Amino acid sequence: MTGSDDATPVGPAQNSSSSSGPRRERALEDSGILSDSAPPAIDVKSLSKRYGENEAVKGVSFKVARGEVFAFLGPNGAGKTTTIRMLCTLTRPTSGSATVDGFDVFRQPTAVRRRIGLVFQEPTLDQQLTAEENLQFHAVLYRVPRHQVEERIDRVLRLVDLGERRKDLVSTFSGGMARRLEIARGMLHTPAVLFLDEPTIGLDPQTRALMWEDVLRLRSEEGVTIFLTTHYMDEAEYADRIAIIDNGSIVALDSPDELKKMVGSDTVELSTADDKLAGSNLEQAGYKVSVGEQSVVAFVENGEEQVTAIISTAGVPIRSVKVHRPDLDDVFLHFTGREIREGHAERSFPMHFRSFRR
Ligand SMILES: Nc1ncnc2c1ncn2[C@@H]1O[C@H](COP(=O)(O)OP(=O)(O)OP(=O)(O)O)[C@@H](O)[C@H]1O
Ligand SMILES: [Mg+2]
Repeated sequence: MTGSDDATPVGPAQNSSSSSGPRRERALEDSGILSDSAPPAIDVKSLSKRYGENEAVKGVSFKVARGEVFAFLGPNGAGKTTTIRMLCTLTRPTSGSATVDGFDVFRQPTAVRRRIGLVFQEPTLDQQLTAEENLQFHAVLYRVPRHQVEERIDRVLRLVDLGERRKDLVSTFSGGMARRLEIARGMLHTPAVLFLDEPTIGLDPQTRALMWEDVLRLRSEEGVTIFLTTHYMDEAEYADRIAIIDNGSIVALDSPDELKKMVGSDTVELSTADDKLAGSNLEQAGYKVSVGEQSVVAFVENGEEQVTAIISTAGVPIRSVKVHRPDLDDVFLHFTGREIREGHAERSFPMHFRSFRR
């Protein structure tokens, strides 16, 4: 580790403990969590990274509150890893500034490194060591006080439900178990902020769900702030807030629910014996509708709750009903004009994954 930083955080005095609790749906700024008196866990201003002609990250700005689970959602090459690398002091920003736990990533890299845990996109465990040995090695690297090492190893293995596999070689672990061990390792030195770069890539949906249980448990039991990247729409939903990044720029940032609201209302689509009549009945009752060739669509705030009223207001025999609530796929499409290329990253993964699992 290099860097000649002092241990004084930038800005007001820091407290590395964080609050845990229920999903923060929105308005972290309004609630004061991101106010000047309580500095954010991550504060990024106009951060850019240029590789030759390629501007991988184009002046992104955002704040992450303490104890928040914050997701960067974007397709391959969007700039997710590059942003993480800058925040973790592994890549020098071309311009802009950022603080992590109150310390400047550019001027105080050593202080930043002491306060973060990082799980890389590519697996980095030593296959020939046991889970415990991997953690012990990390404890030495991160100078975890000797008297705390055993207790921390116990605790982090329990947090990811791997206590029973402590003495087993990593080469005998499944892909999901190894990934969870990496997360445990990232938490060993009690970081204030844990960075997870694509923690669930290449894992089956069930293992991904388990991993998310781990992540949310870490937040609630250790109070850690979590910044993660993903290209999976469904799992970004677990985050308190999502920044959608595309071509190096943040194109939207809010809670999953608010992002969906920005995209539009729910729709209730009816196929009926007389769509025209159904449409005009609904319109007269004050519904916003669109009558197509095969169906009539009503645009409403809460489709599921309104479906019974819509059917009875339509006043004609109903053949089928579909309720659609905007999801993150719609959100991505709305903000970028195209669909996220899901599966692409997964296809690029198995090379690492195979060697990782042996
Ligand atoms: N060391 C590097 N040298 C040159 N270009 C780079 C380097 N690292 C990243 N890039 C480029 O920067 C852009 C963003 O890459 P980055 O790895 O941050 O994307 P990502 O969002 O993490 O993608 P993925 O989902 O595939 O991991 C890409 O165009 C990539 O080719
Ligand atoms: Mg990446």
